[in-house]
Amino acid sequence: MNQQDSMTGRFITIEGGEGVGKSTNIQCIQERLRQAGIDFVLTREPGGTELAEKIRTLLLDCHDEPMAEMTELLLIFAARAQHLAQVIRPALAAGKWVLCDRFTDATYAYQGGGRGLSVSAIAALEHLVQQDLRPDLTYLLDLSPDVGLSRASKRAALDRFELEKIEFFERVRATYLQRAAAEPERCVVIDAGEPLAQVQAAILQHLETLI
Ligand SMILES: Nc1ncnc2c1ncn2[C@@H]1O[C@H](COP(=O)(O)OP(=O)(O)OP(=O)(O)O)[C@@H](O)[C@H]1O
Ligand SMILES: [Mg+2]
Repeated sequence: MNQQDSMTGRFITIEGGEGVGKSTNIQCIQERLRQAGIDFVLTREPGGTELAEKIRTLLLDCHDEPMAEMTELLLIFAARAQHLAQVIRPALAAGKWVLCDRFTDATYAYQGGGRGLSVSAIAALEHLVQQDLRPDLTYLLDLSPDVGLSRASKRAALDRFELEKIEFFERVRATYLQRAAAEPERCVVIDAGEPLAQVQAAILQHLETLI
C-alpha cells in the first residue's frame, strides 16, 4: 500500500517501452478487475484529463522548433499535476483503484535514461508534484526495443519519441530495469517477448495476489 490511509484504493501502473504490449495487457487487467467487482479508473500518462491530453499532444507531436529537454520534463510534470488533481487523487480517495498506462517510472526512463536529465531534477519534481504518492504496484513489460518498435510501427505514424535512435530506447529499457531491481516489492518484471497468452497469464497470476 502507499502511504495514504487504508481506505484508499490501489494505484497500479503499467510501464515499458514502445510497443511492449501495455495497452493490450491493460485490457485483460481491466476485465479481471471488473469480474472481481473492483471499482477502478483506467487512465494514462501523459494525459488522462482534457488539459493533460493537450499537453500530451504537445509532447508527442513534432514541431519546427526543437523542444528543450527541460521543457519536455516540465510539461510531463505539468500534465501529471493536472492528472493527479483531477483523476488519480480523487479516485484513490474514493476507494477506487487506479490503473494507469505509464507514470513516473517512465519519466525516469525516458527523460532520465533516454535524454540524460539528472535523476535529482526528476526526483525533485516528483516530490513537488506527487508529495508521497507512489504506485502500489507496477508491471514492467520488458522487451528488446527493436522488437517493441517493430510491433509499434505497424500502427499510426511515428511520434516525436518513436523517432529516436535505438540507443535511446536501450537506455530507456536499462533504466526501467534498474528501477525495478531497486524496488522489487513494488515492481513486477514481465517478459513481454513471450507470446501474448503467456504474458497475460503471468500478469493475471500475479494480480490474484492483490484481489
Ligand atoms: N506478447 C505479444 N506478442 C506479440 N505481439 C504482441 C504482444 N503483446 C502485444 N502485441 C502486439 O504488439 C502491438 C503493440 O501492442 P500495444 O499497443 O499493446 O503496445 P503498447 O505498449 O501499448 O505500445 P505504445 O507504447 O505505443 O503505447 C499490438 O499490435 C499488439 O497486438
Ligand atoms: Mg499503448
